[in-house]
Amino acid sequence: INVEKAQLEKLNQSMQHVMRVARTHVLSKMGVQLTVAEKTSRRDLVTNVDHSNEDFLVQQIRQLDADAHILAEEGRGDQVKTMRGHVWIVDPIDGTMNFVHQRNHFAMMVGYYVDGQPTLGYIYDVMADKLYAGGPEVGVTLNGQPLAAPADLDLADGLFGASAPLLINDRFNMQTVIATSLGARILGSAGVQIGQVLAGELVGYLSYLRPWDFAAGRVLAESLGLVMTQVDGTPVNMLSSGAVLVATKRAQRAVLAIVK
Ligand code: IPD
Ligand code: CA
Ligand code: CA
Ligand code: CA
Repeated sequence: INVEKAQLEKLNQSMQHVMRVARTHVLSKMGVQLTVAEKTSRRDLVTNVDHSNEDFLVQQIRQLDADAHILAEEGRGDQVKTMRGHVWIVDPIDGTMNFVHQRNHFAMMVGYYVDGQPTLGYIYDVMADKLYAGGPEVGVTLNGQPLAAPADLDLADGLFGASAPLLINDRFNMQTVIATSLGARILGSAGVQIGQVLAGELVGYLSYLRPWDFAAGRVLAESLGLVMTQVDGTPVNMLSSGAVLVATKRAQRAVLAIVK
């Protein structure tokens, strides 16, 4: 075991601890009245817990990595303009609408990239208490237990994770994608749904996403032999938004052939 790998293993353990502590903070604040604000519309919410959890995660990452450049959804990080160096991408609460209206089906996510290379990723489905963690060097675990790569199922042989706007508007021929699959599942949290792809519960997931919605998922997915690309099959750009597809290799081929 080389030094770099030993350091990554240690960082991976430390980050899992940070995520678990963050979860207890979030749970303890959920019993208390939330402060909810609209960002750009009544469907785009942010709460005091998004802010406090982002504060906590950004602080902890800075303590673990003095060279961290942090891109965080609610603005507590840095102005990140390049993927060079150590880049951490943070979504403190993914699925804020669910958090506010369901107190369920939301996640926290952190992705770590070194010179653009997917290195470590964390998706924590808070209420299910499922922490997906790891990366290509250290392997992927679910709550500390090694997670096996999901079977390479075809689109026709599995459920497909959709986003409501894409499906309703039949963007990218989404209705045919769904009709080809065993059925659509729509949950309102990219983190929870990407977790389901990692676990083999969905053969794929397609949604319009921003970097913090897919950064952690990309690390974990690629480590498990899954693929994440833009909907036209080109590589995702970690610093911009786009329609992002994460899927098994076979389901990806099927989806790309249907997409218009
Ligand atoms: C949102 C959720 C949702 C997706 C949106 C995201 P947020 O994240 O992941 O499922 O459809 O595009 O913005 O804002 O709750 O962190
Ligand atoms: Ca948001
Ligand atoms: Ca998000
Ligand atoms: Ca968020």
